[in-house]
Amino acid sequence: MRISRRSAIAGAFGAGVTLLCAGAWAANRGTIGAAAAHDGRFFGCAGQIDEWNAEGDLRDALLAETDYLVPEVELKWAAIEPVRGQVSFKELDGFMNFARRNRKKVRGHTLLWHDSVPDWAQARLRDTGDWSAIAEYFAAVIPRYGGIIDQWDVVNEPIDTGHRADGLRENVFLEVFGPDYVARALAQARALAPDAKLMLNEYGLEYDLPEERDRRYLLLKLLERLRNEGAPLDGLGIQSHLDLRKGYISQNSVAAFLKAVADLGLFIVVTELDVKESDYTAPVDQRDRFVADEVRRYLETVLEQRAVTGVVTWGLCDRHSWLKVTPEDYARFPGAWLHGGGPGLNRGLPLNAAMERKPMYFTIKDQLSSH
Ligand code: G3I
Repeated sequence: MRISRRSAIAGAFGAGVTLLCAGAWAANRGTIGAAAAHDGRFFGCAGQIDEWNAEGDLRDALLAETDYLVPEVELKWAAIEPVRGQVSFKELDGFMNFARRNRKKVRGHTLLWHDSVPDWAQARLRDTGDWSAIAEYFAAVIPRYGGIIDQWDVVNEPIDTGHRADGLRENVFLEVFGPDYVARALAQARALAPDAKLMLNEYGLEYDLPEERDRRYLLLKLLERLRNEGAPLDGLGIQSHLDLRKGYISQNSVAAFLKAVADLGLFIVVTELDVKESDYTAPVDQRDRFVADEVRRYLETVLEQRAVTGVVTWGLCDRHSWLKVTPEDYARFPGAWLHGGGPGLNRGLPLNAAMERKPMYFTIKDQLSSH
């Protein structure tokens, strides 16, 4: 690759800024981002700006480690306009300004997600049967961050198994607009973001369970239909919430699925990697080993596929994770903590709550540098 003088200077300046912001974090130890970049891939993490503003150690680590940042909540429709007419970009602008200041790119997560449509918008879509609420939302959000968001999850989790032959989830968009809503959303996003990569993002694709087999099949059929229709779709996000309660991921099924996606001419991003633990009673170093081993099995399969361009974890440290140790988890181990102690947090992210690198951290780094 040829590097122009201008980009070399910009790169050097960028590195300087990152080091300055990242304090002592990286100091000669290399980072996951650097490991990913050696092969033209990227590394990123999701999180919330209020947490990053409040916690300097977390901020230092993520500035050093990542190329991409992903708003975990701030970009969702329900977060921007929870009540009709009460639009607030405060959190999201804060997130974007943070990314801009620190020269990070941002994945736009997410435009249409059944789980984050405010009640008023659902009612308006149903009452009017008209696309204008979506059009207004897209027009307010997409151009606002034109330069910095270069990947959009236009539709999140479009598939649901066990209901319809076409596999489309029965959400408000399908109910009001029919199956074309996916292509329509992509077309609208393309009109507003001609240079960005437009993606669908889906979960539950990793295991040889009947439901996940069906989801892989139905998602592939949807991708094929969209490609055949000429919809402006560039890539697929695979969320990758691994779950040790489900057993081992199926390397063969994942590899075959990714090959089929790549054969459609789409690129792929691991968009929300983390691990739900199963055995909370094991010693901590063993728990960390279980997590890292499964991440290794997953990434060694996924990164074999050249269409995979990057890896994003859903959080960076165990302090902030949507994965909790639940009452059901406690119930699985009756009597385990009768004499005090407890399982602590779920340990499914690269750094522990004290911001120390865990085996999962080194596994991601090794896998990205060895593929
Ligand atoms: O900010 C409010 C706070 O003011 C309020 O007191 C509190 C009371 O519950 O809620 C806070 O908002 C919560 C928000 O996270 C911030 O922590 C929301 O209730 C809660 O629903 C929201 O959850 C997020 C969820 O998406 C829904 O947006 C999770 O953090 C986030 O990790 C999760 O991310 C999803 C991806 O978008 C799609 N894939 C699955 C993934 C995990 O569910």
